[in-house]
Amino acid sequence: MGNQKIIGALPGEHNLQDYDKACREFSFEMLAREFYGNAGKINIVHRVIDHNIERGRGDRMALYYDADDRQASYTFNELNEQVNRFANVLDKYGLQKGDRLAIFLPRSPELYISFLGAAKKGVIVVPMFEAFMKDAVRERLLSSGAQALVTNAELLSRVPRQELPDLRAVLITQGAGDAQTLDWYSEVAGASPRTEFCWVNREDPLFILYAAGADGRPKGLVHVHDMMLGLWATAAWVHDLKEDDVYWCTADPGWITGIAYGFWAPWLHGVPVLVKGGRFDAEQWCRALEKYRVSVWYSAPTAFRMIIAAGKEVYGRYDLGRLRHILSVGEPLTDDVMQWSLETLGVPIYDTWWMSETGMNMICNLRCLNIKMGSIGRPVPGIQAAVVDDEGNELPPYRIGNLAVRAGWPAMARDVWGNREKYEEYFRLKPWFISGDAAYMDEDGYFYFQGRVDGVINTAGERVGPWEVEEKLREHPAVQDAGVAGKPDKIRGEIIKAYVVLQPGYEWSHALGEELRNFVKTGLAAHAAPREFAVKESIPKTPDGKVDRKVLRGWVLELGK
Ligand code: WT7
Repeated sequence: MGNQKIIGALPGEHNLQDYDKACREFSFEMLAREFYGNAGKINIVHRVIDHNIERGRGDRMALYYDADDRQASYTFNELNEQVNRFANVLDKYGLQKGDRLAIFLPRSPELYISFLGAAKKGVIVVPMFEAFMKDAVRERLLSSGAQALVTNAELLSRVPRQELPDLRAVLITQGAGDAQTLDWYSEVAGASPRTEFCWVNREDPLFILYAAGADGRPKGLVHVHDMMLGLWATAAWVHDLKEDDVYWCTADPGWITGIAYGFWAPWLHGVPVLVKGGRFDAEQWCRALEKYRVSVWYSAPTAFRMIIAAGKEVYGRYDLGRLRHILSVGEPLTDDVMQWSLETLGVPIYDTWWMSETGMNMICNLRCLNIKMGSIGRPVPGIQAAVVDDEGNELPPYRIGNLAVRAGWPAMARDVWGNREKYEEYFRLKPWFISGDAAYMDEDGYFYFQGRVDGVINTAGERVGPWEVEEKLREHPAVQDAGVAGKPDKIRGEIIKAYVVLQPGYEWSHALGEELRNFVKTGLAAHAAPREFAVKESIPKTPDGKVDRKVLRGWVLELGK
């Protein structure tokens, strides 16, 4: 394996010296040589399944699934068999390397099996969050040109099949399909448990994840098999995963966290994951932590705050003593949450900063460094981050600017599907990748997150593009124009606030507000629906006709009042 040497560079001691040494000596190319050796072709599935089986871990647990109405578990051997069978189903329906399989499912074993089965055959996965409604689903299926889809009968009603000429195979995991659909279980049961790998290049696509931008349609970020290097390294250094851990990343695999750390990163280390079905519930979540003896937990500040709000009479009833540490992502980790964890659970929370585009943890409170409260931490070794001005010049400590990362890390998105130009915008200030976040750095090299610069909304850790919500609102007969922004909120980080200009003849009422909210909810997604509205005479625009997000930002903050 030869990984010892690299882990050795970061011994997990709370010692800045070793971090500096690792930053000087480590490179991802070095790791690539250890990982891939002389193998010309690779496949991430080989690394997360076959590699574990070869190391004698085949009978160890890979996946615990826990929902109200279903509990299941899979060892690496069992997972392997299911993955092979599903891979053969894709073969049977003619899907080949580079074709796209969309997965539109709630968290369930079939989702993970389908994902790995596709990747094993070089088929590119298009994950779609289960809360998406027809407009969002259509957008993703049309843009990716998916040839096959795994979904369930309930979600199928949101798939506008007659508008999707490329879609030729639809597999249903639950409920009754129709004459045009296939039954996932009988197809898988009828397929051989053995199959061949499709060996791919490091740069070959693994999945396309659609992520909201500020202005325009969601961007299909193309992630590649090479991301395993970054996921392996951060699982070791940031999450500190060890053989005997049980890991729970609460994010849904419709988002990057639920993909990268929901299963790839822990399985690269042969560590079992818990997948919890159903919606958030403070009590259920605490029970799951106890029941599965979760030792490393990756979640988000909104979830922590909701558990805190549920009260000691809820979380105090469960034994969470197996937790070694907690990690946080998606929104600022506030001091009160950290205090609660230290005092009540007796463990620290390590903040991790990254995004859909970066594919892996980038700036983190590493275990080998002291935590500074309020800071997102320091760059993972191998990553060079900086704060730059609008010309790409590095700024000195304490100056707020664009949070940027030097291009070229292994988990970086390689393209925006079908839109190279959009992709290149990220790298307009070479050699930097411009994140869209504002930040400053202190004299010790710790970074401090200062919000988005571009109007992308982050509500309860979920990324929402204002443009999409505005487009939806404008479709409603009562709305002439709309502008949408994130308004700071104590529990959810931000809530969505919509400013609307009404069509002549319409008057504002509470009922109209509810109607508009529902219109977005049922057309786009529940989490994209505005929670607050205000009526305006007009929406401010920039000279090129886009909504002026700076002015809207002032409105939501109620500046100038
Ligand atoms: C945006 C990316 C991959 C992480 C999950 C979200 C915000 C991310 C932090 C953090 C404060 C954070 C940023 C970023 N964000 N991590 N530790 N503290 N804010 O991925 O949906 O692509 O959203 O989430 O604003 O740009 P995403």
